[in-house]
Amino acid sequence: MDTNVKLKKAQEMVEKISDLPTIPIVASKVLELLDKPDVELEEVADMILTDQVLAARVIKIVNSPLYRSSQEIKSVKRALVYLGFRHIRELALTCSFIEAFQGKDGAFDVMTFWEHSFGVGIVAKIIAQRARYIDTEKAYLAGIIHDIGEVFLSYYYQKDFQRILQEIKSTPYKLVDAEDRFWGTNHSYIGVAIAQKWNFPPEYCEVIADHHEPELATIDPNLVAIVNLADLFCSVRQLDYGGREWVSFNLAEEKAWDILKKFAPHMAKLDVERFCYELDDRVPEVQDLVKSIFEGMVME
Ligand SMILES: [Fe+2]
Ligand SMILES: [Fe+2]
Repeated sequence: MDTNVKLKKAQEMVEKISDLPTIPIVASKVLELLDKPDVELEEVADMILTDQVLAARVIKIVNSPLYRSSQEIKSVKRALVYLGFRHIRELALTCSFIEAFQGKDGAFDVMTFWEHSFGVGIVAKIIAQRARYIDTEKAYLAGIIHDIGEVFLSYYYQKDFQRILQEIKSTPYKLVDAEDRFWGTNHSYIGVAIAQKWNFPPEYCEVIADHHEPELATIDPNLVAIVNLADLFCSVRQLDYGGREWVSFNLAEEKAWDILKKFAPHMAKLDVERFCYELDDRVPEVQDLVKSIFEGMVME
């Protein structure tokens, strides 16, 4: 089906929801500040600090093993100095999205959703490092947000989504295809409809839109390919939330693999089996990270 038709259908489904979470006020003020040409780091840090939940999440994510800071970072200002201005926007949006969907368990529990998301983020970062992609933090954040459409469907279209999950449990169908058959659109288009509403930067919108069809990407096909492959690896390891038992894939048949090998020919030598074992070792790290991000985050 035409991608425009799917996007239109997704936009209609998103528009129908009257209580769709909006970006928390502080986060949108942070984004506004970041648009000013000579904003001071201090100003941004002060603004983040007015929202304790946002501040705590920023600090927890910066201290996650992914960023590999040598010392524990305890203040928002240090976190921003460490991160630089480059990724504050995405980090603020990601933290806001987590906040917006906190406790919104639907067809699946939101924690397992974030385990998958952070898992894909971590694996995307590892692949990005191996492929010598220039911005590994970007790969990490893009991985975290790639499936935001799923959490929306799981919560706002709970009954239908439950049925779809049940239906594909013992079949080789992919979730995304089952969604297409049922709604005429899928979580990629839903996700991009939300991301556009929230003003996520275009390369992130593209990852959300094309992470199951990396060949459609035009802005940063390598980034989309990295997230697509990370998603595939997570779906066959223990970092998948849909209860799918059937998923398997052959790297050689994946379009994302072709895209990535063109960009980084040395990746052709990747020992896939060994890579999978290495990823298994990272699973507890992902689970701990997600736990730490959510722990003690009681929402008012
Ligand atoms: Fe997906
Ligand atoms: Fe995914």
